[in-house]
Amino acid sequence: MAAVLSSSSYILLFSLMVTSLMVASAGNFYQDIQVTWGDGRGKILNNSELLTLSLDKSSGSGFQSTNQYLFGKIHMQIKLVPGNSAGTVTTYYLRSEGSSWDEIDFEFLGNLSGDPYIVHTNIFSQGKGNKEQQFYLWFDPTADFHTYSILWNAQHIVLYVDGTPIREFKNLESIGVSYPKNQSMRIYSSLWNADDWATRGGLVKTDWSQAPFTASYRNFNADNACIWWSSGSTSCSSNSNSTSSVLLSQELDSTSQERLQWVQKNYMVYNYCADTKRFPQGLPLECTASNTS
Ligand SMILES: *[C@@H]1O[C@H](CO)[C@@H](O)[C@H](O)[C@H]1NC(C)=O
Ligand SMILES: *[C@@H]1O[C@H](CO)[C@@H](O)[C@H](O)[C@H]1NC(C)=O
Ligand SMILES: *[C@@H]1O[C@H](CO)[C@@H](O)[C@H](O)[C@H]1NC(C)=O
Ligand SMILES: *[C@@H]1O[C@H](CO)[C@@H](O)[C@H](O)[C@H]1NC(C)=O
Repeated sequence: MAAVLSSSSYILLFSLMVTSLMVASAGNFYQDIQVTWGDGRGKILNNSELLTLSLDKSSGSGFQSTNQYLFGKIHMQIKLVPGNSAGTVTTYYLRSEGSSWDEIDFEFLGNLSGDPYIVHTNIFSQGKGNKEQQFYLWFDPTADFHTYSILWNAQHIVLYVDGTPIREFKNLESIGVSYPKNQSMRIYSSLWNADDWATRGGLVKTDWSQAPFTASYRNFNADNACIWWSSGSTSCSSNSNSTSSVLLSQELDSTSQERLQWVQKNYMVYNYCADTKRFPQGLPLECTASNTS
């Protein structure tokens, strides 16, 4: 039987197998994600390919990853709350446990219909954050799904939107800046009411007549992330090839550098490194280090 298959049939067969494997691993919310709160407001739908979080006056909702990770590149496609989302916050972040936790944040601050969302980012190391940068997006994040990615390795952290880097945080331990690298983290996401601060500093309140508010997720992909086991080892300790380029990546290539500068020049709303009023004793060390952005 096999003898009659031409080589092109083999290639077709092989690519079909690869495609089905990729679909299975990228879409499997049942296996990779647990809805952890919200009393039914977080739902896994469409044969496990779609996840929705919703918020109404009684409660928001949230999920977390089954696994903990120590380094990797993790992607999620998110479609944010459409229409009047003012007062709502959709979070998507990596976080470790304990009182001196590490954390890498995306937070999407809702807005009135037609007004732009703000993407708020922050990085915590050993429980200390205060590294906020905020951005507008160059598209309507409520009209369709867009990919939000976190690259985290021992050299740097890069936040990406649709493959475009919006922020890079380098490991500058050499000059005394604390860097998250020895605690494993889980992915978390939540949709909740923050109308005391989220939209124009709390001036615009959540309009509950628009509830329930819903954000949608698909194509979670942590294939290039190192799963951490309680024994202390990770799935990358055995040096698998798929993750090595992610783990060893030290610098953005020149195209990515240009994209990053384009975003920072045109879409940045707030940069803690430019907030001299907030840091009267002097800006944080990483802000004045010559090779950081
Ligand atoms: C969910 O499944 C329905 C029915 O198959 C389909 O119409 C819809 O587009 C799917 N939604 C997403 C976001 O994949
Ligand atoms: C991580 O490193 C910090 C100092 O760099 C140390 O205080 C902390 O205990 C370490 N945590 C773990 C889990 O090893
Ligand atoms: C909401 O829209 C207003 C008006 O365009 C803008 O000033 C503000 O930055 C937007 N975002 C938030 C979170 O308030
Ligand atoms: C990694 O790739 C090399 C060459 O491509 C191969 O020889 C080696 O077996 C691979 N290692 C693993 C763990 O897959």
